[in-house]
Amino acid sequence: MNEYLSPLEWRDDALQLLDQRLLPVEEKWVACRTYEETARAIRDMVVRGAPAIGCTAAYGVALGIRQGAPLDQVCAALAATRPTAVNLFWALERMKQVRAAGFDDYLKEAHRILAEDIAACVAIGDHGAPLLPDGVVLTHCNAGALATGGYGTALGVIRSAVKKGRNLRVFADETRPFLQGARLTAWELHKSGIDVTLITDNMAAHLMQRGEIQSVVVGADRIARNGDTANKIGTYGVALAAQAHGIPFFVAAPLSTIDLRTPSGKEIPIEERDRREVTHVGDRALAPDGIGVRNPAFDVTPHALIAAIVTETGVAREPYVESLAKLFDAKP
Ligand code: MRU
Repeated sequence: MNEYLSPLEWRDDALQLLDQRLLPVEEKWVACRTYEETARAIRDMVVRGAPAIGCTAAYGVALGIRQGAPLDQVCAALAATRPTAVNLFWALERMKQVRAAGFDDYLKEAHRILAEDIAACVAIGDHGAPLLPDGVVLTHCNAGALATGGYGTALGVIRSAVKKGRNLRVFADETRPFLQGARLTAWELHKSGIDVTLITDNMAAHLMQRGEIQSVVVGADRIARNGDTANKIGTYGVALAAQAHGIPFFVAAPLSTIDLRTPSGKEIPIEERDRREVTHVGDRALAPDGIGVRNPAFDVTPHALIAAIVTETGVAREPYVESLAKLFDAKP
């Protein structure tokens, strides 16, 4: 157990996941005892958020080994769940490197990945906190404790700034269509006693124009070598609006989200999810049957719109091709 809220834990010989589809109405944990159950939980968004997906996949590998399934088969099933968040592939690579035969060794490595992710988030918070000006900080989607091993990336920066006594309030974009902002960010910040105000996605530019937002901080699903950043759909629009109003736009993410093998945002695969997420809220239809629907789950914010990228080893700024690579040298 760690001191922070975490969306996953190992208990009763199983991986327990806080079912994020049910929040904030219900706090229910689901147990995964096989790698197939773990893969389904990732695909169906029981657990989501790039670092949390990576940690979950690591436990999924351990479960597969316990089942006696071949490592390659287990990793392939987990890799096929969600294509954009690179932490998933990063974690599978780490697990493939475990130099031992037994389940215990794989489980230990999964525990290590989880503990390292939490430590990275706290360090991201410490590096990022001084960057935020006092006033209102806008965030999009959920890059909080629920999206990581605990503490959060973008919300980690906010948590650390608030802890240091800074005068901050948070505006949370609701984040259509899955509503991570309304359901998850608002829930976890409120639970932590951090001042949070919910807005719909189409209100952000208006509030920036009125001078009601002083900074933006978001998480990332994959950061390319040149700093282009894939994050939840709608992030790009927020970055454009921030630039138009001279508001600094920050990205906070662990090194496991930086993919130096992907040269730019053009090469980042963008997940397209089920049309039902757009046409329905729960069981209720919002749109007529028979129409076309698109549901890209992520977009890419070009590096030129990003004031800084905050990681556990420090803060990168333009030119990102150089500064991001340097951050890896600082890794202990
Ligand atoms: O589809 P999701 O909910 O997995 O998307 C999550 C995001 O886009 C987050 O901002 C990102 O993963 C960073 S989480 C620290």
